[in-house]
Amino acid sequence: MRNKFYITTPLYYVNASPHIGHSYTNIAADCLARYMRRVLGDKNVWFLTGTDEHGQKIQKAADEVKLNPQEFVDKMALQFKGLWQALNISYNDFIRTTEERHVITVQRVLEILYQKGDIYQGGYQGWYCTPCETFWIESQITNGSCPDCKRALEKISETNYFFKLSGYQDWLIKHIEDHPDFIKPQNRRHEVLSFLHLNKLNDLCISRPKERLSWGIPLPFSPEHVTYVWFDALINYISAVGSFDNEGEYHSQWWPAELHLIGKDILRQHAIYWPIMLKALDIEPPKIIFAHGWWLIGETKMSKSKGNVVSPIDMVDKFGIDVYRYFLLRDVPFGLDGNFSEESIIKRFNGDLANDLGNLVYRTLTMIEKYFQRDTPKIDTSNIQYEPRAKNILEKIKLLPNEIALRLNAGFDFNFGSALERIWELINMANKYIEETKPWNLAKGNKTEELKAFIRLLVDALREVAEQVYPFMPQTANSIREQLGADKIKKGKPLFPRIENKP
Ligand code: MSP
Repeated sequence: MRNKFYITTPLYYVNASPHIGHSYTNIAADCLARYMRRVLGDKNVWFLTGTDEHGQKIQKAADEVKLNPQEFVDKMALQFKGLWQALNISYNDFIRTTEERHVITVQRVLEILYQKGDIYQGGYQGWYCTPCETFWIESQITNGSCPDCKRALEKISETNYFFKLSGYQDWLIKHIEDHPDFIKPQNRRHEVLSFLHLNKLNDLCISRPKERLSWGIPLPFSPEHVTYVWFDALINYISAVGSFDNEGEYHSQWWPAELHLIGKDILRQHAIYWPIMLKALDIEPPKIIFAHGWWLIGETKMSKSKGNVVSPIDMVDKFGIDVYRYFLLRDVPFGLDGNFSEESIIKRFNGDLANDLGNLVYRTLTMIEKYFQRDTPKIDTSNIQYEPRAKNILEKIKLLPNEIALRLNAGFDFNFGSALERIWELINMANKYIEETKPWNLAKGNKTEELKAFIRLLVDALREVAEQVYPFMPQTANSIREQLGADKIKKGKPLFPRIENKP
């Protein structure tokens, strides 16, 4: 059993405004952080997010709007912070790669590795993809275009600094093989392992000459160069939570991270470069790197040029924070790609949220209002003879916490959708119980004690639903708790008034 939980998200590039893909990782991370705070206590959970602010992409974007890069990144970082606030993201720390605490750590890492001989100077000739900020060698490319993004490559010849990835390949293979949960899900682990078995790693070019790119962290041993943006950015995971002493030893109360949540497109950097950088620094690797899938719009990637980028703020304005969070976590198994559409949100809204959860809350509160003048019935449960349906609900209330734990805190598959399904099983059992019991008949027949027991059970089920749904939909959970009150209900507006699907 782990007794602390340090969870990170990628640092988002600030060259453009955040979109739904970015919000996905942070919502998933927020859900886990909230869940783990309940399991381990607030002070044992650390949730880090932030922004990636150096490199060519950012410099170019700043040039386009005629701002100096620092002004530009200051402005953009605020957009990301604003979005996280709008989505109820409970991060503990937000790191920007332009902050001093980060720059100092990156320079220390460079010095340590240079002194050790793991960073060395070399001549570089090859092909460079500016949008991907990636170098390619002749054998990796066809027709002069980037193997990843297919755009035209630039031929480049210059002096640079290299990090000895190649020296650690065998260590990395063994580490992955010895730690089945290091890279998740399984298919991503296989992908990385088979890549490492089939290819010899090239050393990584970690510098850019200043005349080509000035917006980066200067190399301490060669001010004519700045640090390659990926080498710089990955270090955030340690620069945010600790520091190096004079002997070059790293100290942190949080490291190693229990979980780096990332998207599948940045697996190579996280599962190959990063563990090797840490190994070279004599720092423990993170426990788990989990790569989730992508949200697509009608089978295609979102992109500015296609004009199909969806803004998370628009979705929140239209549907509300929790509906958006619920949809992203419920609709697609974590790890797979999904199709994003407003129609699918509306379907989930009207079905799971309005019909199932919203209705259960509303009906329960209405009965307490109608039959018991808003007082939650108090009963002595010891001598109640529950019928089988009620017994099943009681049993389900007892089992649910463990069912959720199995999906969020064991096996490391982070199966949000399946966890929500288990909660909805209880909701549906309770709704069915109402329909089959026909409480209005109990009321008519003056069966007050039975009616009390019946409503008490619904209230208990709802309290458990609120408890379990909280990490996914914090506002909704709080609102259910508030409306249920302690002894007297405070009925509010329906939680999810149905949305008419306009033609
Ligand atoms: N700056 C780097 C990460 C450095 S981490 C030390 C970067 N930034 S990014 O802004 O381009 O992407 C950040 C994250 O957003 C990645 O995990 C990526 O997978 C995710 N997504 C970007 N588009 C996405 C979708 N359409 N769907 C889901 N996630 C997507 O890479």
